[in-house]
Amino acid sequence: MSIERTLSIIKPDATRRNLIGKIIARFEDAGLRIVGQKQLQLTRKQAEKFYFVHAEKSFFNNLCEFIISGSIVVQVLEGENAISLNRKIIGATDPSNAIPGTIRADFAESVEANSVHGSDSPENATNEIAFFFAQIEIIN
Ligand code: CMP
Repeated sequence: MSIERTLSIIKPDATRRNLIGKIIARFEDAGLRIVGQKQLQLTRKQAEKFYFVHAEKSFFNNLCEFIISGSIVVQVLEGENAISLNRKIIGATDPSNAIPGTIRADFAESVEANSVHGSDSPENATNEIAFFFAQIEIIN
């Protein structure tokens, strides 16, 4: 067991439908603590930078257009095994494959509009947190 930090994004499909509070409750109920949080809207350039690992994928353009289509809430979540715990709570990328009770099974509209993002490895968590947050914005 180790205390980790992970980056969470509540995506535009969820902010549009007023689901921010319901999604945050899932994280807090599972024992994850919010140690950084803000709401913003990405530019196309910022979206392309954040999702650069998917640049060669067929869905890259749609992915970028979707993530800039409205506001997002970015969060640093902290807790024991936060990276894998968060991935478990959010469920499979495609909501049709997500286990009932996970955020994506309960709220996502499609594989693209899938309500939330969660870092998938310690290295990506570190990089993604640094992409959105300055040290001073994270509670120690
Ligand atoms: P996310 O966890 O934010 O990481 C990359 C995103 O790409 C993923 O969530 C999905 O929303 C999106 N994605 C993955 N596969 C597809 C696909 N086949 N079509 C559209 N979007 C996809």
